[in-house]
Amino acid sequence: MSDSNVERGVMEKLVSLCKRRGFIFHSSEIYGGINGFWDYGPYGVALKRAVEALWWSEMVEGRDNVEGLDSTIICHPRVWKASGHLDKFGDMMTDCRACKARHRVDQMEDKTKCPNCGSSDLTEPREFNLMMKTFVGPVFDEDHAAYLRAETCQPIFVDFHLVRITARQKLPFGIAQIGKAFRNEINPRNFTFRSREFSQMEMEFFCKDGDSMEWFEYWRGERLRYYRELLEFGEDELRVHDHGPGELAHYAKAALDIEFKFPFGWGELEGVHHRGTWDLTRHQEFSGESMEYFDQETNSRFIPTCVETSVGVDRTVLALLCHAYDEDTAETKKEGKREEERVVLRFPAAVAPVQVAVLPLSKKLAEPAEKLYKDIKRSFRSEFDITGSIGKRYRRQDEIGTPVCVTFDFDSLEDGAVTLRDRDTMKQERVSVDALSDVLRGRAGLA
Ligand code: GAP
Repeated sequence: MSDSNVERGVMEKLVSLCKRRGFIFHSSEIYGGINGFWDYGPYGVALKRAVEALWWSEMVEGRDNVEGLDSTIICHPRVWKASGHLDKFGDMMTDCRACKARHRVDQMEDKTKCPNCGSSDLTEPREFNLMMKTFVGPVFDEDHAAYLRAETCQPIFVDFHLVRITARQKLPFGIAQIGKAFRNEINPRNFTFRSREFSQMEMEFFCKDGDSMEWFEYWRGERLRYYRELLEFGEDELRVHDHGPGELAHYAKAALDIEFKFPFGWGELEGVHHRGTWDLTRHQEFSGESMEYFDQETNSRFIPTCVETSVGVDRTVLALLCHAYDEDTAETKKEGKREEERVVLRFPAAVAPVQVAVLPLSKKLAEPAEKLYKDIKRSFRSEFDITGSIGKRYRRQDEIGTPVCVTFDFDSLEDGAVTLRDRDTMKQERVSVDALSDVLRGRAGLA
């Protein structure tokens, strides 16, 4: 099989595992699904929340110069007029007159033929706006039209002074937000990679223009460190695409994409963008309110320059699933077999949906094992599993990516010790219950 077929196969297996094990489901599946919308099941939501918590702790809680915000999804429609989204936020698209399919022109290999049916009877390419529209109030007319936000950062610009004043911040400082964004993508595809409803984690860092390139380089380094050290992505899985002069917005001094190697090819995970004074200037113009900052050191007023880091939660989750997916072999007690294939998700412990599973060897041990589980649960995302053979339970925990299993056996009643089984090496070690918390805490990311 060619490499690309193997990698397509990995994607199919991953999508099926995500459904089977409760990570990600197609939204409204019983109605046939809705294209570009996804639901996160019990393990998916645990993974997603762990990703958000890690980003928040890294970008907000761990820094004195970044503040948090949680704004509404629907803003005053003039926000999107000022940001430029209502006038120009879209893709060039063409319709096939023969099969009625609609395509993004930049994604068509042969721009003269419909990728769906091969017909050359295509409409002239035209721009398609990606903003999702709704109506606020009882009257459904243009005066009551509103939009679901297409990026989480615009409310950050709008609330710039409110956050600055209430948090008593001086330049340079940042404002961060995690939340939903909506885009009416023409061709949602590659599982959750391009969705119509997704979440972003964005941080806008405001500084003096003269310092902005230094901050751009700083955030480039910080964000790459986050992927390498905290999410444990390998050098072969990451690359940086620096935007050349022809790719930059007119107000930007620099921009880059951090890309991940997905099974379907390289794809953007995050953008680090120099946004100049564009957004604050536009909101000043459209609202009539000053967006200037008064600098006491130099006794001058100016609009701060912004450096942004912007990443999709769903793309991070998808990258983690792709990074973590592995197949190897494990010992088995099945008749006539010494080994069997196993599927394992090698998540970093910090984001694993379940960090510790407590498994009593027999139902007779349920009571003392459950007591231990309740203790562990206070410090780690944990699960108690009593159903099926121990081999089957290990396989299940491997498939959801649990880094450590704690097995409670009959000896545990006598020696006050349990067996720790490592997901990656499958090695087992005996640990006393008294030392268990410290041993678990000592494992990378388990805190
Ligand atoms: N505020 C800047 C901004 O929104 P963007 O490059 O359009 O920039 C930032 O989006 C990130 O949001 C992307 O790198 C990606 O991770 C995520 N993203 C964008 N569109 C998406 C979509 N349709 N589905 C899932 N994630 C998306």
